[in-house]
Amino acid sequence: MKTAIRRDMILHVEVVDLLNKQIMLEQKASSKYLAMASWCDQRELVNCKKYFYDQAEEERTHMMKIFKFINDNGGSAMSPEVPAVSHEFESMRGLFEASLDGEIEVTNAIHHAFKKSRQVGDFTSEMFLQWFVTEQAEEEEKVRDILDLIDLMEGMPLKMIDERIPTE
Ligand code: FEO
Repeated sequence: MKTAIRRDMILHVEVVDLLNKQIMLEQKASSKYLAMASWCDQRELVNCKKYFYDQAEEERTHMMKIFKFINDNGGSAMSPEVPAVSHEFESMRGLFEASLDGEIEVTNAIHHAFKKSRQVGDFTSEMFLQWFVTEQAEEEEKVRDILDLIDLMEGMPLKMIDERIPTE
């Protein structure tokens, strides 16, 4: 006798699509941060370099968290195809402005997925995404603080600003 194995998905299909898009955005963020780490490395900005290496790792962790969540709940996580990222930055400020722009893009996508989860009654995803909502608020705040620091130290040598970039 044949046993039918059917795994019902607790997640809503529209939310899974958004979560798969989120996987790509997190991986893209990780790639962008690697490009930024290279820019800093070429200028011997050691704290800045560590900051972006750590960010790249963190974004990959976010990507994996969503990837496993989808698969663990009966969905199908898609390995992301990441668009090419720029390695050109005009200045240290330009670097962190690009970082903030990227974080805002991720935040907007998280909020959209969160709203969709609530709208379609996918409470599993809604609960899961709560962590990301908080995380994004912290991430944006961190970059804004660094931009304030750069503005405050305008005209100072890059190495001196680099010494103030948080590495933890
Ligand atoms: Fe995971 Fe900062 O986006």
